[in-house]
Amino acid sequence: MPLIAIDGPGGAGKSSVAAALAARLGVERLDTGAMYRAVTWCALQRGIATDDELRLGELARELHLAVAERVSVNGEDVSEAIRSPEVDAAVGAVSAQAAVRRALVARQRAWVATHHSGVLEGRDIGTVVIPDAPVKVFLTATPEERARRRAADQATPTGPRDVAVVAAEIGARDRLDSTREVSPLIPADDAVVIDSTGRSIESIVDEIAALAGAEAGSAPEAGLRPVRPISRRVRWFYFVCRGIAVSAGHIFMHGPIVGAENLPRSGPFLVAPLHRSDIDFLIVARITRRRMRFIAKSGIFVNRQFNWLIETLGAFPVNRRATDREAFNRALEILIAGEPLVIFPEGTRNTGPTIGETREGAAYLALRAGVPLVPVGLAGTDTALPRGKVRPRFARIACVVGEPIMTGVEHHAGEGRFRIPRSAVHALTDELRRAIQQLSDEAAGIVADR
Ligand code: DC
Repeated sequence: MPLIAIDGPGGAGKSSVAAALAARLGVERLDTGAMYRAVTWCALQRGIATDDELRLGELARELHLAVAERVSVNGEDVSEAIRSPEVDAAVGAVSAQAAVRRALVARQRAWVATHHSGVLEGRDIGTVVIPDAPVKVFLTATPEERARRRAADQATPTGPRDVAVVAAEIGARDRLDSTREVSPLIPADDAVVIDSTGRSIESIVDEIAALAGAEAGSAPEAGLRPVRPISRRVRWFYFVCRGIAVSAGHIFMHGPIVGAENLPRSGPFLVAPLHRSDIDFLIVARITRRRMRFIAKSGIFVNRQFNWLIETLGAFPVNRRATDREAFNRALEILIAGEPLVIFPEGTRNTGPTIGETREGAAYLALRAGVPLVPVGLAGTDTALPRGKVRPRFARIACVVGEPIMTGVEHHAGEGRFRIPRSAVHALTDELRRAIQQLSDEAAGIVADR
């Protein structure tokens, strides 16, 4: 089942068609307009101006956003609120901000990466989000028809809204959407233009399903699973456990954490440290008070209480028989949900001061999710707890956090395709390896220089 991109102006019938098509084909749908609306709703709540690109961009990166049947923002159901006249009036300006688009396009591509098939609707799906989608439709309708539909959709208890007023609003939004500098609303060169005026939803769904060469009722592929936002109770518990563990760790491992201010203060990021010892985790947990997630073998999830404890501390299980893809998808889901994640790019504990073979998973994941990649250098942990030993020894340690390597849309912009080129993954992995080595050398210098 292919990916299907449906673009077009407001009132062209995209949502009804996309929903019916997804149901017919048994795949999921992503309403990208709802994502722009959710960011706009939140900006209005927080009093952020609709032209404050910096803060809007931050918001679009950080929000815990779940867009499916219902839409929720940081756990709050906003499905109705994002369709309010206030959001309608502001969403055009918010979605014209380049930083907002960068953040949301990255999230949309991450959705694609885990779904592999599905229906995406919006304004720039075929041109920007997935330019290599095999099926692209540009759905349109006459301005009168679109105004009539919108007026009926936005009916109040006293009756439908005035069609002339709605027509004027639609006209204004069309102008904003099609003339904005970033990703204006235009049909992709290879999109099939369908005029929905006077046509039934069913007939349009038939036409697109035929384009996709799709068989009705084929099985859906594995989808993105939601990640529950961290609750206040869990946050507190983590805070206390971290405090105890970090203080206890100080007894054996004394030394500075350098460069923690480099960490993004909010939103998702991927931390990539050197790996020399089982206690590396404990040192890495010192760099931020935020709970970071990490992959753990399912074998250590032995009973309910213990599972709860390590999950609360950030671990997520990967089935021993799971494919790499399953672990990759879970990691992607966590980053998309806005949480930080730790991955040791060497994949295993190595020895000595030189970074071992660096796997490409971390770089690939950061590129896919469009999140900052934070290199971290370590020294001394292999003295504190060498491989094969269970009892820690007193040792001086140092941990140096590097500047985040920013990834995102611009990293593969201009490639003309959605797939991340291998060359970009190689280049980022090289950059990461060099950074971790340099930071670890710095850390080793600090340890030696006591
Ligand atoms: O489809 P909609 O009316 O819910 O979209 C709301 C706004 O979001 C609309 O002004 C266009 C904008 N949008 C966008 O710029 N890019 C998308 N991919 C989807 C929506």
